[in-house]
Amino acid sequence: MFAARRSINLFQKRAFSASASQASKVTVLGAGGGIGQPLSLLMKLNPRVTQLALYDIRGGPGVAADLSHINTNSTVTGYSPDEAGLADALKDAEIVLIPAGVPRKPGMTRDDLFNTNASIVRDLAKAAAKASPNANILVISNPVNSTVPIVSEVFKAAGVYNPKRLFGVTTLDVVRASRFISQVQKTDPNGEKVPVIGGHSGVTIVPLLSQSNHASLSGEARDALVNRIQFGGDEVVKAKDGAGSATLSMAMAGARFAESLLRAAQGEKGIIEPTFVDSPLFKDQGIDFFASRVELGPNGAEKIHEVGPINEYEQKLLDACLVDLKKNIEKGVAFVKANP
Ligand code: NAI
Repeated sequence: MFAARRSINLFQKRAFSASASQASKVTVLGAGGGIGQPLSLLMKLNPRVTQLALYDIRGGPGVAADLSHINTNSTVTGYSPDEAGLADALKDAEIVLIPAGVPRKPGMTRDDLFNTNASIVRDLAKAAAKASPNANILVISNPVNSTVPIVSEVFKAAGVYNPKRLFGVTTLDVVRASRFISQVQKTDPNGEKVPVIGGHSGVTIVPLLSQSNHASLSGEARDALVNRIQFGGDEVVKAKDGAGSATLSMAMAGARFAESLLRAAQGEKGIIEPTFVDSPLFKDQGIDFFASRVELGPNGAEKIHEVGPINEYEQKLLDACLVDLKKNIEKGVAFVKANP
């Protein structure tokens, strides 16, 4: 930690204090991991970030020392669990990215990670509720459908829950959807926007092709594309053959979401990202969290968009999603109640 702290030079200090109104501290919890490292790199390259705090149970200071040599203005500090490392990493954070926990191995579902990751996320959330109760919390650790409700329960118990500042990062599903549809249609993925709603695992991932540029896709081509978007993560898990799941594409997706929040916080209007949030859309069915298009602003989630018009095929996907999603959310809530 101290080696990384020493690397803050005078120029960087001046740059930080000169732009205090735009100061944006970003904290990464799990910064030493497969996602954490490239995500931290992308945050170091982001000129909107003024301070980068990197925490991990192992390797935080090393990653921080390495990144601190990159010639962008942000300061980088690494933290370990010793002393007040976690609290210091979180203090004054505007954005807390959480990719801490274990990833999948071939044959595993995201839900199989629950037993390990639930307690990791609960404990990190407890620390954040104390040290950075007003930060935007971006949960990457799987199963997102359950870990987001875990964070919300912990924040509620601490009396600091702000539903507008809690986000499950589902951006990778959106990134995959635009890439995969561009491969089928032979187009530029940058021009492809496919809303992906629901949750972040298997059938809870619901791509709305009818709201894309290719609403007329149907039959086997559509079914194969939807299946690939829902289970695209499995391709990576299989190809990595036991060495983890998506890390580089996830880092890009997490960095994109964080960048969108920073832009919105700095006053840019009309920034919309699909994300898994505390949502009114299906509360009448007992489902408190749902991913849909969300407009971001200085207060976090400013406006949660409706699902919008969908076809019969997508309605069936949505029906299947809601069944699983409800169970996943209840599992997260029950975990915190049983293991506060
Ligand atoms: P990894 O094993 O490479 O890295 C995880 C890091 O978390 C390690 O450095 C580990 O030391 C750290 N860690 C463990 N317990 C911790 C604690 N209590 N406090 C701080 N750090 C802790 O795993 P990887 O590949 O980076 O994946 C991380 C998580 O992200 C997994 O749960 C994975 O399923 C999830 N993921 C989420 C995606 C999404 O779209 N939301 C996509 C891909 C992965």
